Amino acid sequence: MPITVRVPDTDELQSVADTVAIALLQSPGDDESWAKARPSWESMSSLVAFDVDVDDDGDDTGAPGRGRPVGHVGQFLVETVVPGGAALGTGAVSRVGILPTYRRRGVATRLMEALVADSVERSLPLMSLRASEAVIYERYGFGVAGEYAAIAVDAGRARPVANTAPGMITLLAPEEILDTVIPVYQRCRQQTSVARPGMLVRAQSFWQRYFRPAVERTDGSFVAVHHSPDSDDPDGYVHYDVAWADDPLDGGRGKIHEIFGLSPAVELALWDYLFSIDLVRTWTSWERPVDDLIRCAIADRRAYNIESVTDEQWLRLVDVNRCLTARTFNAVEGGVVLAVTDPLIDANNGSWAIDATGAVATTEPPQFTVDIATISAAYLGGTSWWALDGSGRIDWVDGTDRAEAVVIADRLFASRPLPFCGSFF
Ligand SMILES: CC(C)(COP(=O)(O)OP(=O)(O)OC[C@H]1O[C@@H](n2cnc3c(N)ncnc32)[C@H](O)[C@@H]1OP(=O)(O)O)[C@@H](O)C(=O)NCCC(=O)NCCS
Repeated sequence: MPITVRVPDTDELQSVADTVAIALLQSPGDDESWAKARPSWESMSSLVAFDVDVDDDGDDTGAPGRGRPVGHVGQFLVETVVPGGAALGTGAVSRVGILPTYRRRGVATRLMEALVADSVERSLPLMSLRASEAVIYERYGFGVAGEYAAIAVDAGRARPVANTAPGMITLLAPEEILDTVIPVYQRCRQQTSVARPGMLVRAQSFWQRYFRPAVERTDGSFVAVHHSPDSDDPDGYVHYDVAWADDPLDGGRGKIHEIFGLSPAVELALWDYLFSIDLVRTWTSWERPVDDLIRCAIADRRAYNIESVTDEQWLRLVDVNRCLTARTFNAVEGGVVLAVTDPLIDANNGSWAIDATGAVATTEPPQFTVDIATISAAYLGGTSWWALDGSGRIDWVDGTDRAEAVVIADRLFASRPLPFCGSFF
């Protein structure tokens, strides 16, 4: 069966979406759900594998068909905050799916390699994704650059919360939500004291999707904002859902989507507000930073339970030089010279000297070599060089003081707070 990879026409997108739905264990949507999904599909850059032996056009003109979509990869154009605060153009890879009847014949590989080439052409320095399975993407140069925790907090045992900012909490009306939260988020991601490496400058379609239930007043979904006593401008917000437990005698339960504050104290004030909501005994979130601030601020540390820790963002450096020179490194003594190998992008094969003043391409002999997935994992400063070395991912040049180089690399790269994306796509 001959497979062609190409950009789909707009009128083919609905059948492409059906293909992805089937691959991701869902039923293809009806016209009504397509009308809702369509803007987000149109806003992404897609590549589709078509089986050109199958004419699915359904017309009777006798013209050759354009083929049946059997696989899709796509990316939204966003930006990723990197250590030091710069925001780098990023292909946020999503909707990767191959029909079950076409799997394990290299279709995803053709599509992913074409998508990496597409990112090079668009001059995107980074690609990022969330993986359904951890064994798929390393072969295309992606490494785990950050993790997240699924948590449950017992509201009764969590209070009092320490270091909460004084101020007022207000619930937003649906029509106020997007205009209020977007600027607060943008200020947070620009403020180095609270921004985490890995945060995104989100695409508009993400905002609409994330907040649709709160804007449409469904799912018990709400947004509350915090104001400091001397300002009318909100300095933080929390987006959450509340519902009765299955047995109403158990009270209510709450689900946190996201909390952002312009200072740690504002973030803690928003947590304190959640814990104060009557009836809600347990707050859950499926996506919190592993070093969640609230853990250190609650009265009973064991009120906060981490139920799982999972890989969050998989990154792929598309332009190693731009990525390394755009981030800052910690003010420590010493430096490292590392080499990178990348079988898909020639320009990434090279060496860089890195110290507290930054990274610079060099012809100096490297102390060690890593593949593109390994430098991508280390890039945001959340995956330690110590662990990458211990797991055999570093190729050492004879004579290098390995222990010293690992310590210096870790000191240079490490990020606090830890990387966290917090945007699912
Ligand atoms: C994951 C998926 C896209 C792979 O598509 P595919 O066309 O079968 O992939 P390829 O044939 O190009 O396989 C490439 C390699 O990855 C391996 N691989 C791919 N998916 C794998 C999986 N889920 N588990 C283990 N190995 C996998 C293949 O065995 C192959 O290895 P090889 O090169 O050593 O032979 C496809 O199985 C799929 O649609 N899965 C369900 C939806 C999904 O999980 N999408 C990802 C969303 S993030």
